[in-house]
Amino acid sequence: MFKILEKRVFSPIIKEMVIEAPRVAKKCQPGQFVILRIDDAGERIPLTIADFDREKGTITIVYQEVGKTTKQLGAMEAGDYLKDFVGPLGTPSHIENFGTVICVGGGVGVAPVFPIARALKEAGNHVIGIMGSRTKELMFWEDKMREACTELFVTTDDGSYVRKGFVTDVLKEIIEERGKENIAMVLAIGPQPMMRACCNVTKEYGVKTIVSLNALMVDGTGMCGCCRVTVGGKTRFVCVDGPEFDGHEVDFAELARRGATFRAEEQRAMEHHTC
Ligand code: FES
Repeated sequence: MFKILEKRVFSPIIKEMVIEAPRVAKKCQPGQFVILRIDDAGERIPLTIADFDREKGTITIVYQEVGKTTKQLGAMEAGDYLKDFVGPLGTPSHIENFGTVICVGGGVGVAPVFPIARALKEAGNHVIGIMGSRTKELMFWEDKMREACTELFVTTDDGSYVRKGFVTDVLKEIIEERGKENIAMVLAIGPQPMMRACCNVTKEYGVKTIVSLNALMVDGTGMCGCCRVTVGGKTRFVCVDGPEFDGHEVDFAELARRGATFRAEEQRAMEHHTC
């Protein structure tokens, strides 16, 4: 059993939890994820690690309530226990001194971007952060991102905070201003349409772009095939080959189709859920 040590509510649908998981914290690297289960009959949900503290033996997760399980998780409090908390899973982010790197976090995707941006800055990169959300109310961790990045740009879809626009608008402006030859890489994490839109922008300029994919998962160890995705025309497994891939090679249309496979079941589960 894994104890929830802290809980923070960023908005009615976005929450942060600090989980006591010393063995995961000891080994995890930026870019990796965990799979958790609330109880014996629970669905397994993969969540990218948002932060970790090796000394305290804790892992931080940030999640958005989108279905039955995340709603159930949202109703849990500090002092409660999770049944399973398996990890670290997946291949860590490739960290080295690339030069200037743009890290884009959209919505709850800001959370997994944070430890990668921090590690890239520690490795000597000039890290330009872009964080965006639909509204001011859904924004979180601006302070942490400011520390993790060399410079930070903030945008909201509705203009309720800082500037109005999408992360792709800011991304395009920065590439134009600084010159595509001066950007070594873009990392984009967030909702699939946002990652796809970022890839469309960077493809135009020929700037390498890494995305972190959120696929349906069961075992998380490459055995069930549930998380398969096509990258560069080849079948890859998000849980072991990823979650990070070259965004210009990802078949986003197939990923979206596969992600919708259980929509009817998810809907039914939500309708029967009371918490
Ligand atoms: Fe089963 Fe990836 S979750 S192969």
